Amino acid sequence: MTPYYEKSGITIYHGDCREVLPRLSAESVDVVIADPPYAIDNKFGTQVGRPGYGNRSLQFAWDKAEGVAEGVAEAMRLCKAPFAAFCFVGLPTCELVRRAMLEAGLIVKMAAWAKECPAPALPGNWWPSAFELALYGYQSGAFFADVRPTRRNWWVHDSYRFGQPGKVAHPTQKPLSLIAYIMSAMAKPGSIILDPFMGSGTTLRAAKDAGCRAIGIEIEERYAEIAARRLEQSVIEWGDEKQRTDLQSSVLEAMGNQESPISQAELF
Ligand SMILES: C[S@@+](CC[C@H](N)C(=O)[O-])C[C@H]1O[C@@H](n2cnc3c(N)ncnc32)[C@H](O)[C@@H]1O
Repeated sequence: MTPYYEKSGITIYHGDCREVLPRLSAESVDVVIADPPYAIDNKFGTQVGRPGYGNRSLQFAWDKAEGVAEGVAEAMRLCKAPFAAFCFVGLPTCELVRRAMLEAGLIVKMAAWAKECPAPALPGNWWPSAFELALYGYQSGAFFADVRPTRRNWWVHDSYRFGQPGKVAHPTQKPLSLIAYIMSAMAKPGSIILDPFMGSGTTLRAAKDAGCRAIGIEIEERYAEIAARRLEQSVIEWGDEKQRTDLQSSVLEAMGNQESPISQAELF
C-alpha cells in the first residue's frame, strides 16, 4: 500500500479507513485520536450570508454515521496494550463509539470541548452549538501525563474562523491547541498516534510538533493534500501559554514516575 505522504515518522494514507486499517500491522499503534463524522442531520443546509461574507454550508457529503464505529474499532485493534483512545462524537455516533470502546476492553468516559466564541445560533435553533462531546477510554496502565490537581474533562478553546492564521479549507478543522493538549496528556514523544478520520491533519500536525509519530487516513484527496501541506509548514501554533507551561511541568512529573529513555531536553 503506497502512502500519500511519508516523512519524519508521519504517514498519510488516502482512502477509506475501513479498507486501509486492515492492511496495517497489528500492535503498531500506541494511541488513537479520532474525529470521525458526527452524522448531524442538519435541517438548514446552506445559510446565505450577508453580501460579501459568503455562505455558510452546514451539510457535508461525508457526514454519515456509516463506517464510524467500524473505523474506530479497527483502529483500536491495531493498538499495543495497555492503550487509550480519544474520539469526538455527535449524538448519533456517541453510543456506537461507546460500544466499540467497551468491546475493545476500555474504561469509557466523557469529555467536552467548549468553544470560547461559538458561531451564532441559526434561525430556528434554540441555542448555538457551543460545545462538542468526546469519549475517551483507556485500559488500566495506559500512559497518562496530566497529573495537575486542577485538570478536568472539559477544555475551552476557540474554534477557527475563516481568514484566521492556521485556518485551512476544511469545514470542521479542530483547534490545534486542543488536539496538542489531548495528545500531550495521552502520549509521549516517540509514541505512535493513529487518526483514521484525519480531515485536514490536525492530529498529525500536533504529533509532529510533539515529537510523536503518526498515521492519518482520509477518504477525500483534497483534505489529504491540505494535511500534507500543513506538515510541511514550520510554524507551530500554540494555544494558551499558561496551559502549555502547566502541562509541560505535569508531563515532566509524570514521566519522572515512569521509565523513559527520553531526556527533558528532547521533550519540548
Ligand atoms: C470531522 S472531520 C475531521 C476533521 C479533522 N479533525 C481536522 O481537524 O481537520 C472527519 C473527516 O473524516 C473523513 N472521512 C469520512 N469517512 C471516512 C472514512 N471511511 N475513511 C477515512 N476518512 C473518512 C471526512 O472526509 C472528513 O474529512
